[in-house]
Amino acid sequence: MQPFAIAPSILSADFARLGEEVDKVLAAGADIVHFDVMDNHYVPNLTIGPMVCAALRKYGITAPIDAHLMVKPVDRIIGDFIEAGASYITFHPEASEHIDRSLQLIKDGGTKAGLVFNPATPLDCLKHVMDKVDMILLMSVNPGFGGQKFIPGTLDKLREARALIDASGREIRLEIDGGVNVANIAEIAAAGADTFVAGSAIFNQPDYKAVIDAMRAELAR
Ligand code: DX5
Ligand code: ZN
Repeated sequence: MQPFAIAPSILSADFARLGEEVDKVLAAGADIVHFDVMDNHYVPNLTIGPMVCAALRKYGITAPIDAHLMVKPVDRIIGDFIEAGASYITFHPEASEHIDRSLQLIKDGGTKAGLVFNPATPLDCLKHVMDKVDMILLMSVNPGFGGQKFIPGTLDKLREARALIDASGREIRLEIDGGVNVANIAEIAAAGADTFVAGSAIFNQPDYKAVIDAMRAELAR
């Protein structure tokens, strides 16, 4: 198991002041910046792309940036995110014609690679590419929007993914994304997650540090 990491989703940040928001949430104790990329094709929403990732690097953000690509087709944007300074690039298997090739493209750029599984997508393809993934991201809501409710069936899927990771003996982060909050983070950790994306639970509160401290207290229980 990797050390616990809190990864605020900047989808719920104030985009008009994005640099300051990222500074503020990192100062509040966040470990990873979760960067949601939506294309109005693979998912019914449109957000930010590699230019914004590069702008955050130029602004001075040095923390890991976890680019969650909800983009189809995914391959042609991967190079741009590597150039833009993403630390992790994850994509949905449904958005790639050749999953192994897309993972290799990311790894060839020296970036950590991951696969994202929607609530109703089985983990089957993982067994063929376990040697190439550095992160497994389980969606606990259907992708496209922040502020949705955690789907409880994801807990069983987390246990399944945790067993696969442990059996592989590799250092793979198990990330959960959607509807994570102070009230459910302990149960989610107990099911095997080590990396916690939270958008609305953090950015919709005035005091980001209070929320992140409360999450860490739950994780230490
Ligand atoms: C949904 C995104 C999530 C989302 C999480 O498609 O991938 O990262 O922003 O937001 P909350 O924590 O509000 O569910
Ligand atoms: Zn996400």
